[in-house]
Amino acid sequence: MIKLYVCRICGEPYLGGEAPDDCPFCGAPKAYLRPVEEFQEIWKTKITEQEKKDLKETLDLEVNATALYIKISGKNPKYSKQNQLFKQLARVEREHAEMAAKFLNIKLPEINGEDAKGSIKKDLERTKELEKSAVEKYKKFLKNAENNNLKMFYVALIHAEHGHYEIATEEIKLV
Ligand SMILES: [Fe+2]
Ligand SMILES: [Fe+2]
Repeated sequence: MIKLYVCRICGEPYLGGEAPDDCPFCGAPKAYLRPVEEFQEIWKTKITEQEKKDLKETLDLEVNATALYIKISGKNPKYSKQNQLFKQLARVEREHAEMAAKFLNIKLPEINGEDAKGSIKKDLERTKELEKSAVEKYKKFLKNAENNNLKMFYVALIHAEHGHYEIATEEIKLV
């Protein structure tokens, strides 16, 4: 019997017998995939000046990563492993950018950012770098956060970006 789940972090619905290990849209851990009745818009909350500053930096990082991953995906043959991997990474980062924009109560900016690096190895190395620095920054922003909703957001992001770091690390060994 399938059930309807909604991600507490990104608000996207999911239909399935069981919730997946990670939200397919934002990469949040399984525990955040909850029955639809429990859903509340976590981004509708008051934030401090420091939290606003951190969210703006989060938004910039996520927009840049989205742009880069779209470019990397597009450089690889359609349906190839790297094309699919970076397509999904781009989707997740875009979802993160959208959430940061919702917390800031602004429209999602245009998706612009750095270019692909010329080879899949270099692209994966840059991915590792970006994801590692995202994890470090979000740990800092988590400490800065006073707002519980924002804390939840950063916990989910740290989980997702750490997963991206791990998969890029594994992929480099294969190319
Ligand atoms: Fe999600
Ligand atoms: Fe992200």
